[in-house]
Amino acid sequence: MAKVIVGMTTSIDGFVADQSGSVVRLYPDLAALQGTAYMNALIAETGAVLMGRRAFEMAEDPNWFVGNYEFQVPIFVLTHRPPSVMPKQDEHLTFTFVTDGVESAIAQATAAARGKAVQVVGGISVIQQVLRAGLADELHLDVMPVLLGTGRRLFETALENVGLEKIGVQETGPRTSLRFRVKKK
Ligand SMILES: NC(=O)c1ccc[n+]([C@@H]2O[C@H](COP(=O)([O-])OP(=O)(O)OC[C@H]3O[C@@H](n4cnc5c(N)ncnc54)[C@H](OP(=O)(O)O)[C@@H]3O)[C@@H](O)[C@H]2O)c1
Repeated sequence: MAKVIVGMTTSIDGFVADQSGSVVRLYPDLAALQGTAYMNALIAETGAVLMGRRAFEMAEDPNWFVGNYEFQVPIFVLTHRPPSVMPKQDEHLTFTFVTDGVESAIAQATAAARGKAVQVVGGISVIQQVLRAGLADELHLDVMPVLLGTGRRLFETALENVGLEKIGVQETGPRTSLRFRVKKK
């Protein structure tokens, strides 16, 4: 059974986006990450990606994903309004716009991942839903030494059903990656 990993990069003061919704200040190492052991391992373990419609729209051009996005795998996008024109796809990266809920999205992504992990890359709403529904196996939080002061938080309220057990810490440049197993209560 594929592992479901929810993951985000956070500032020291707990923001995953600035007030305008941008993550630029959280990824000063974006170019430097390419080709690192960290990135290669992430790519190797990932069989499918799940994201929300807003995270999908962070790419200005939906045709950008093929050949450019780090995960060249099937991508599932939760939305109530799929685009009228399908973005560019190829034999590795396909798009599925899922309109019937998070359980269905995880089930479809798990089947497409063929035993590899499903990476839930955001945004905030989708990660919260996956955790609340008890569908996440691991939480990966990358902490960047950046103070945003204000912005959007991943966790605004307690998720009573989520317990966490630390399973790993990895340092890559300025980035500290914290890995937790999600203990379902
Ligand atoms: N720091 C990081 O690593 C990181 C990574 C990724 C994103 N982010 C940040 O996260 C923020 C985006 O998060 P977000 O919570 O605003 O948006 P999101 O989770 O990316 O997308 C939310 C949208 O997805 C659709 N959706 C969500 N759940 C659904 C469901 N169960 N059924 C059908 N459609 C569903 C809805 O779109 P419709 O309008 O189509 O219904 C909803 O408006 C951005 O500010 C971004 O910068 C940060």
